[in-house]
Amino acid sequence: MDYSIKSDSLEKLSTDCLLLGFHSKRKLGPMATAIDEALGGLISRLLKRDDPDGKPGEVLTINLMPEGKIERLILVGLGKKDELTASSYRKALIAAANALKSTAAKHAISALHEADVKDKPLEWKIHQAVEILESTLYRYTQTKSEKDTGKPPRLEKLQFILDPETDVSVVETTIRQSLAIAKGMNLARDLGNLPGNICTPAFLAEQAEKLGKQHKKLKVKILGEAELEELGMGSFLSVSKGSREPAKLIVMEYHGTTAKTKPHVLVGKGLTFDAGGISLKQAGGMDEMKYDMCGGAAVIATLGVAAELDLPINVVGLVPASENLPDGAANKPGDIVTSMAGTTIEILNTDAEGRLILCDTLTYAKRYDPVAVIDTATLTGACIVALGRHPSGLMGNDDALCESLVKAGEATHDRVWRLPLWEDYQEQLKSNFADVANIGGPDAGAITAGCFLLRFTKDFKWAHIDIAGTAWKTGNEKGSTGRPVPLLSQYLIDNAQ
Ligand code: BES
Ligand code: MN
Ligand code: ZN
Repeated sequence: MDYSIKSDSLEKLSTDCLLLGFHSKRKLGPMATAIDEALGGLISRLLKRDDPDGKPGEVLTINLMPEGKIERLILVGLGKKDELTASSYRKALIAAANALKSTAAKHAISALHEADVKDKPLEWKIHQAVEILESTLYRYTQTKSEKDTGKPPRLEKLQFILDPETDVSVVETTIRQSLAIAKGMNLARDLGNLPGNICTPAFLAEQAEKLGKQHKKLKVKILGEAELEELGMGSFLSVSKGSREPAKLIVMEYHGTTAKTKPHVLVGKGLTFDAGGISLKQAGGMDEMKYDMCGGAAVIATLGVAAELDLPINVVGLVPASENLPDGAANKPGDIVTSMAGTTIEILNTDAEGRLILCDTLTYAKRYDPVAVIDTATLTGACIVALGRHPSGLMGNDDALCESLVKAGEATHDRVWRLPLWEDYQEQLKSNFADVANIGGPDAGAITAGCFLLRFTKDFKWAHIDIAGTAWKTGNEKGSTGRPVPLLSQYLIDNAQ
């Protein structure tokens, strides 16, 4: 999709489809009012005739317009003026994008961003429009036959009408960044949606290498099991022992500035299928454990975004990739393994495997002398219990780093909510036979997982983002969301300034 700005006079608009917002009681914003006047009051007449409530998400599509240059009109409810929240605005955008997709329009013009959204600047509204439209147009086609996927969307170009006083360069930057992020989200979606028999650790590694070939400043290397053995990654390797697919550590280095500049390190859990191992999961919904690599997919995609935007920073992406299956060679409850850091770990539940592959990768991250390390993982069902599916869970050992992630999350609506990692919780991880146990009992499961990782991050600033509730949707709309690509990308953009 192509996005651009339109700032010439409203009377001369010519398009396949015009998107306009209206508030309760049929109130129009200044741009919509001017267009209405240019159309001889047609819009007010339509609103009067059909009298929609104007609730956020309500949409009126006029698919045939009297002769003229505007072929179609989509009127989008935005609720009471002065009461429009970020979430309601997104709801309205999603409805508008779906309505637009269902028309045959190739070209569209939008003025929806003229509405005031509480606490949000114009850039935020533009960013959301690009991201939501790209997400609406996303189609998963890889493993479906053509008759099943339907026609590809016809929309090719969207223009935002801006009044001539607006600083165009700011909006142009927003468009460029949000489009790169949206593309990154769609790559992460594709990887997440692919089944475990296709998206294996080796496949994930190949995708990272493919991305590396597309960008000069992005170097990718893959460490195999022999190299992981040599590094002493006994914890990581214990998980892949029970699988026929060899483990891979995907190492991506984006060099956007001088070699001596410290990098930001992103770590993503790349568990391509999590059956739980010997502590086997129940059958219902187990297919969704193909999504257990969404953290890794987000890291791979975010390095692509950094390269695409040519950000003047250094970034390292580390993705430990493995399966977790039951097998004669698999970890057994009670097994004790030695991590790369030398810590011994008693595996009381083989289904708590994410922390086992992450801890060695976090230890590996130290060699980069990082500005900060951020890991993201579909780590605990407990995080969904604690926070639901709106924010991801945020934990960390540095307040400023956590704050910067909260801010990046607000800016992209890829939100996070912080949980404490107080030392009081560490007691739950006591083992009678090793330095630490890999589970902390039924209480505060998201936090004790974070506390486990905290033990491996003493040497750098670190944050952990648990995306168990946000990386994919369940139910009828089952599918990967592409989160937290927006959050991680925005964090990098903010740090590149
Ligand atoms: N990948 C799962 C976490 C998960 C569960 C993500 C459900 C999304 C939805 C992780 O490896 C896991 O199995 N965690 C266990 C930990 C427990 C054994 C301490 C869990 O959450 O049940
Ligand atoms: Mn598990
Ligand atoms: Zn898992």
